Amino acid sequence: MYHSLPIPGTSRRRRGRARVTLSRPRATAGVLALAALLATAPPAGASSLDALLEGCAQCHGTDGNSVMPDVPSLAGQPATFLETQLILFRERLRRSEAMAPQVKGLDDPTVIALAAHYAALPPRAAPDPGDPALLAQGRQLAKAGRCGTCHLPDFAGRQQIPRLAGQREDYLAMALAAYRDETRGGADTTMIDVMRGATDAEIEALAHFLARQGGQP
Ligand code: HEC
Ligand code: HEC
Repeated sequence: MYHSLPIPGTSRRRRGRARVTLSRPRATAGVLALAALLATAPPAGASSLDALLEGCAQCHGTDGNSVMPDVPSLAGQPATFLETQLILFRERLRRSEAMAPQVKGLDDPTVIALAAHYAALPPRAAPDPGDPALLAQGRQLAKAGRCGTCHLPDFAGRQQIPRLAGQREDYLAMALAAYRDETRGGADTTMIDVMRGATDAEIEALAHFLARQGGQP
């Protein structure tokens, strides 16, 4: 299920690749997790997917655009990226106290359905025009770091590479710092290599710039 791309500009791989594979459904855990979620607020007659999505919406927003600090928007993310991250959370290869209980025991068809749902939603535009000096610095850093070669020139992402355009600024800064500090690896070590040695000021400028790209008004 997980395909790695030949990615330009990657050099050393310190930790090698973590293999990400879709595993067979784990029936007991899945049923228990689903039962726990359904117990929270099942709308009458709703499918289990709708019930799950209601839970996700509490943090990620009903339209997949997050209004919660440090919680990423999911709208318009490539489906493969969303699937990969859900599996990384499920297999505890990406650590998050918030996400771990959400994905516990989710089977692969459900992961695929959740990813398809959010990939199809339109991403929202950034809330304000931003600070011109910080934007200029961020644009320059994105160019120098060749972020667009992987994330695409409009930062819309593709396959397992996430959309950055219009993502929450606080979340982007948090994610970039996590790669730099090597507390988040990802499906491979690409972003650790990209962010090695970045300063807090550079991260701030990159996040400010990327949060204000793309999206719809
Ligand atoms: C209690 C709040 C909460 C709920 C409920 C929740 N999430 Fe999350 N989610 C988060 C947080 C916080 C993060 C960021 C984790 C981090 O990087 O530390 C996250 C990250 C993610 C990511 C990774 C996105 C990216 O850009 O890297 C995906 C995908 C995701 N969540 C999907 C879901 C789905 C699907 C559901 C419902 C089944 C769900 N989440 C429910 C809080 C939540
Ligand atoms: C060689 C390809 C490549 C380059 C160059 C690259 N990225 Fe990435 N980026 C990726 C991949 C692959 C991921 C997904 C990693 C994972 O699974 O956590 C990613 C993830 C991210 C994320 C996490 C987003 C989220 O929603 O969780 C951010 C933020 C990011 N990149 C920013 C940047 C910035 C800023 C630059 C330029 C300074 C950059 N990237 C350059 C491939 C690349």
